[in-house]
Amino acid sequence: MTDSPFEHHEYDVLIIGAGGAGLRAAIEAKRRGLKVALVTKSLLGKAHTVMAEGGIAAAMGNVQSEDNWMVHFRDTMRGGKYLNNYRMAELHAKESPDRVLELEQWGALFDRTKDGKILQRDFGGHRYARLAHVGDRTGLELIRTLQQKVVSMNVDVFMECKVLKLVHDQEGRIAGCVGYWRASGEFVTFQAKSVILATGGIGKSWKFTSNSWESTGDGHAMALWAGAKLIDMECVQFHPTGMVWPLSVRGLLVTEGVRGDGGVLRNSLGERFMFNYVAPMFRDETADSEEEADKWYDDHDAGRRPPELLPRDEVARAINTEVKAGRGTPHGGVYLDIATRRTPEFIRRRLPSMYHQFMELAGVDITREAMEIGPTCHYMMGGVQVDADSEATIVPGLFAAGEVAGGMHGANRLGGNSLSDLIVFGRRAGLGAADYVEAGHAATTFNQGEVDDAVHEALAPFDRASGENPYDIQRDLQDMMQTNVGIIRNASELDAAIHKLDEFTERVKNVSVKGGRAYNPGWNLATDLPSMISVSKCVTLGATMRKESRGGHTREDFPNPDPELAKVNFAQNSTGGNWDSPVEVVESPLLAVPAELKALLEETK
Ligand code: FUM
Repeated sequence: MTDSPFEHHEYDVLIIGAGGAGLRAAIEAKRRGLKVALVTKSLLGKAHTVMAEGGIAAAMGNVQSEDNWMVHFRDTMRGGKYLNNYRMAELHAKESPDRVLELEQWGALFDRTKDGKILQRDFGGHRYARLAHVGDRTGLELIRTLQQKVVSMNVDVFMECKVLKLVHDQEGRIAGCVGYWRASGEFVTFQAKSVILATGGIGKSWKFTSNSWESTGDGHAMALWAGAKLIDMECVQFHPTGMVWPLSVRGLLVTEGVRGDGGVLRNSLGERFMFNYVAPMFRDETADSEEEADKWYDDHDAGRRPPELLPRDEVARAINTEVKAGRGTPHGGVYLDIATRRTPEFIRRRLPSMYHQFMELAGVDITREAMEIGPTCHYMMGGVQVDADSEATIVPGLFAAGEVAGGMHGANRLGGNSLSDLIVFGRRAGLGAADYVEAGHAATTFNQGEVDDAVHEALAPFDRASGENPYDIQRDLQDMMQTNVGIIRNASELDAAIHKLDEFTERVKNVSVKGGRAYNPGWNLATDLPSMISVSKCVTLGATMRKESRGGHTREDFPNPDPELAKVNFAQNSTGGNWDSPVEVVESPLLAVPAELKALLEETK
């Protein structure tokens, strides 16, 4: 017990974040008979997981029987430009089919093949039709299914609770966390024998993003401050297709399923420009004429894949180049056309959310007109360094799974690999945390001094009669990250970003909020800003160090990959444990890929 002055709870396994990874972890830990709680900053069911619309990648071979885990492994490593933790990619490819079937047993209603199997669709970078899906609402169905299971198992769920900081015991093990209720502003502490971070991504630090307000990098930042390492923070994914118009919804995701189902990209001259952007490593398998590409849709075995189905990093860069060259649409995107390629009935059945989204938000009928789209900040490949099998970090008692964890996707994630990542590694994190608790090495004390410091820091903005408005800082940060640490980077813009981030740090120290603590969005944002600044610094430092172009990280001053840098992740750690402490970046050698897996990477089929 602790003598906490705040509302206090005690658990064996505490999971922070209730998207796909958090829910799946909770199920596994609860199955072990442990006392488990989920804490979410938002409402249950509202997570960035729902923005993985087009499907879950799993080599089940239901549409193309040639598919298997080995090809999935190879595709994932190639897509990640070989920066991946090979062991994570291996476990993911081997285990995702079972995790999808388990979802089906728990009630997920996947679309079906004619003979009643789970239907699988094409997506970028996947050799075969591999994405199990529910129209274009797959993430939503995954969340709905897992949520129902969690509720049926009586896992305790705490909603609208913003976690501020992880708390250690006197020996440096993780012992829980401190946060506050958004509804009342009252503080709360959770003491736990193990904590799993499943907090998702960091996209809210960019101006145009598919992420909603929750994605402020809290888990990345808290892990860093608590002594864990972050890797690959320079590897940020800009999904090629976000809405560009109207401005109020700019960045909102347009699923890759549109291209998987036959949609093509055209510039303002009507050219299907992706044929001009096929990198050498993909040339052998990519069609070089419209005729060949279109034949592939009718019979996947008859030709090579359309260039619109290259991995996301390739497609996003191509769109960016077209727009910069003056061949963009009136609102600064390119056209995504499915209307001239599929019947209205097909489009409405396969892509109901896209139909509705464009009709309601832009007044565009996608069964008759092309969509205007452009890259949007969607996903963070980088994250907390974990052990592939258990998801344990280097801090005893702390685990991480899903988008907040790094390693699985290397320098670029393939579409559909995030939903499978969540359920494969969510489950493994639940097991890892349960094993840790049962081994009896967990913390038994709770450092109240850390709680007091976090509370003091969170309340400081109320004490400043005048100061910076948190919304001004957020806007300026998003503008700056979009401009200086966006899809294409260079040394001078990154240097300017580092300088700016130091200025933002000082501004955050002077932030002021008015009013009470209950449902005060200005205060809530003020308590998110330290995480946003911390992770933005890590991204910028990583991008400065990685003097090459690889996957989601493109340097115009170093346009090619550097074979030496293919051997290392950049690992970052906090030197002082506070949000404004300096961050140290060191090279961390990649795990050596065993010979039998290396052989798979060399196969071309
Ligand atoms: O485009 C999409 O449906 C997104 C999928 C993903 O990020 O995995």
